[in-house]
Amino acid sequence: EGLHSLMVAAGKLYFGTAMDTKNFNDTAYQAISTNQNEFGMFTPENSQKWDATEPQQGQFSFTQADAVAMKVKSNGQLLRCHTLTWHSQLPSFVSTGTWTRETLTAVITAHITNVMTHYAAQCYAWDVVNEALNENGTFRSSVFLSTLGPDYIPLSFSVAAAADPRAKLYYNDFNLETTPAKADGAVAIVKLVQGAGVKIDGVGFQAHLNVGQTPSRAQLAATLGRFTALGVEVAYTELDVKHPKLPTSEADREQQAADYVAAVGSCLDVEGCVGVTVWQFTDRYSWVPGTFPGTGEACLMTEDYVKKPAYEAVEGWREQQ
Ligand code: G3I
Repeated sequence: EGLHSLMVAAGKLYFGTAMDTKNFNDTAYQAISTNQNEFGMFTPENSQKWDATEPQQGQFSFTQADAVAMKVKSNGQLLRCHTLTWHSQLPSFVSTGTWTRETLTAVITAHITNVMTHYAAQCYAWDVVNEALNENGTFRSSVFLSTLGPDYIPLSFSVAAAADPRAKLYYNDFNLETTPAKADGAVAIVKLVQGAGVKIDGVGFQAHLNVGQTPSRAQLAATLGRFTALGVEVAYTELDVKHPKLPTSEADREQQAADYVAAVGSCLDVEGCVGVTVWQFTDRYSWVPGTFPGTGEACLMTEDYVKKPAYEAVEGWREQQ
């Protein structure tokens, strides 16, 4: 019983969730998250990001992320690590610095090397590069792109491969599930890294989806298959399915259940899909309402930890398509 156990029984590696130190003092949350049948994998929601781990150049701070890593390890669960080269949640020394090719290369190298070395052998995978694409598949503007061009992507993977050879190295992005031009861009990134002779092991589909606007299980599986055909594994790394408007009806909640089943089912249907991580399992801690006011209730459980139809549907593998 439990989502992780069901995934393992289906031949997958894990069912996981985002979690962070902000969740530590919530005993109801901890009772669920420490249940090894429910969750086998955790992603620190914020504490491994660049602004948290290297707030000033060369000054590394691992207290928060270490606390997450220790809790997970002591409970016999695994860690997906998140994230290294990302335009967002950057400390100002990076985002507002004046860089040359050489100096920014040195900064990226030092950051990735220090953080990955600190967590060496503790991360099943690292999201090495996060959200490098625009919706039309072109490269997103950032300090990295403007200084180094797309070379910052193979550079990041190359440094990562040297820093922790055991971690699976992922490119991670959102809307790859729904936006074919963006998926084309991600295919191009995989080929760019492979073409540079550099290791890339996986593509993470964040899957921040919308109720009633989620592709079918077969469409999702086909998109995952575009990447496994390139020789990389895939995973859903930040799954949630938000309601575009609140309050919700029973029909909305059933639709959400169908959408969750489409996503999880598509992972089951694709051999190279290794697992599913939800971006928090309870609405109590979801990032969604803060970023998209008026929307939400995106998680498998309510704020009060009541299992929604979506939870029951995923657990029951109810065929809804
Ligand atoms: O830590 C400060 C705290 O000191 C301060 O009092 C408080 C006041 O606003 O802010 C706190 O920082 C917040 C941080 O989360 C930690 O809780 C930031 O404001 C807030 O913007 C930040 O949001 C996170 C967001 O990434 C930032 O981009 C969300 O929790 C997190 O769920 C979200 O996760 C991202 C993934 O990393 C990448 N993919 C998209 C996903 C959703 O945006």
